[in-house]
Amino acid sequence: MPLIELRNISKSYPTEAGEVRALQGIDLCFDSGEMVILSGKSGCGKTTLLNLIGGLDQPTSGEIRIGNKDISALSEKERTLFRRREVGTIFQFFNLIPMLTVEENIALPRWLDGFSNDEVKTRVESLLQQVDLTHRRNHRAHELSGGEQQRVAIARALINSPKVILADEPTGNLDSQTGLQVLSLLTDLNRKEGQTIIIATHSREADALADRILYLKDGKILKDIIGCWQ
Ligand SMILES: Nc1ncnc2c1ncn2[C@@H]1O[C@H](COP(=O)(O)OP(=O)(O)O)[C@@H](O)[C@H]1O
Ligand SMILES: [Mg+2]
Repeated sequence: MPLIELRNISKSYPTEAGEVRALQGIDLCFDSGEMVILSGKSGCGKTTLLNLIGGLDQPTSGEIRIGNKDISALSEKERTLFRRREVGTIFQFFNLIPMLTVEENIALPRWLDGFSNDEVKTRVESLLQQVDLTHRRNHRAHELSGGEQQRVAIARALINSPKVILADEPTGNLDSQTGLQVLSLLTDLNRKEGQTIIIATHSREADALADRILYLKDGKILKDIIGCWQ
């Protein structure tokens, strides 16, 4: 059984200028452990697709199953818990809390779940090592470079050990060398821990790292290339 299944997904945004059809009749499956690049020009629907899989938004029609959960049928509260516990999301602009320290940003999703500082300490410790930021643990997020901030965001995304990591243009705000470091960190996670990772990007530099490249065009799947690099 696939880990993620989208059945006949459409998403429209009502606007004053008329309805924007961002996704149209998408059928897709993702297996556990896949590393997927979601590619295509700006405006083709990448962010919309990630937001639906990550429970940040709901489809206009169709069904999304992750594991054996129909996430399109969750209540608002269940969706909040789903987002916090079952997927890790990484954004172009990091979305850290600037005045919190590196450790606090990483621990935050656990705190929101009611865990104490003592209970999360060991986990935060090992994530700091994994993203190589132990020496920065007490710095506030806004004091870090872009690449460091994105590594904090990756650690935060991992704190609840989600099976799925979604990354929306994770290198879009980084220089190309730093961007490659972030991509290689994500690749390592996928290879070592078997996390399913879906990365939306309109640049091509991540292509060589993926098991699968999905090209979107005008809200539809133009090409779905699996296993091309092995
Ligand atoms: N909140 C919104 N309201 C109206 N239109 C939107 C909204 N978000 C995205 N769109 C439109 O939906 C389409 C897909 O956008 P998006 O998913 O952001 O594409 P991408 O991430 O590939 O650039 C675009 O035409 C965009 O203008
Ligand atoms: Mg986008």
